[in-house]
Amino acid sequence: MSTDTVTIAAFAGSLRKGSFNRMLLHNAVTLAPSDVRIAPIDIDDVPLFNADIESPPPPAVARMRDTIRNADALLVVTPEYNYSMSGPTKNALDWASRPSDDSCLNDKPVGLAGCSTGRFGAARAKLALLPVFVFNSMHVLDDPMVHVARANTKFNAQGELIDDEIKAEMRELLAALAAFARRLGKGKTAP
Ligand code: FNR
Repeated sequence: MSTDTVTIAAFAGSLRKGSFNRMLLHNAVTLAPSDVRIAPIDIDDVPLFNADIESPPPPAVARMRDTIRNADALLVVTPEYNYSMSGPTKNALDWASRPSDDSCLNDKPVGLAGCSTGRFGAARAKLALLPVFVFNSMHVLDDPMVHVARANTKFNAQGELIDDEIKAEMRELLAALAAFARRLGKGKTAP
């Protein structure tokens, strides 16, 4: 008997310890369907992109690229800063996109989620990400995306999601991203 397991690499684009986007990512690990494995990426030690230090890549960058390359899909969980993605989100994607002739983003299915304390749940950040995904020849899952508005009211003190609707949306997103990856021939068969 074999299981068709899909691995989704995922990072949250906030460096703040109490980040709601980090909380959402941690919740995704437990909300994932049994045939989906989340491989969280820690971007805390990813430096600001600088072509002078590209080769060899900083260790945190090498680890991030390996995790994305070995995964069947990528989930980006981003805050919204000034109607766009956060700097850490863009910086992580800039590093991941290099070298351009061997990018770990190329041909990768990608899904989106985001938290903001505002009314629109980082929806504008996600719109700003679309050209980045297109430039990198990624396959964007445009529906569903998860937009967590008023994120400061959606988690308890332990960082657990306390909103059943958002939990259901996250489960739906992870299942849809896995199905999308499988349709693109990315699912791996594990013994
Ligand atoms: C914000 N925030 C914000 N929120 C929003 O809904 N739209 C926006 O354009 C912005 N812009 C913005 C810029 C900057 C520089 C900061 C620091 C914050 C508020 C943001 O949603 C809130 O701080 C979130 O809590 C950030 O995500 P993390 O760090 O909790 O994951």
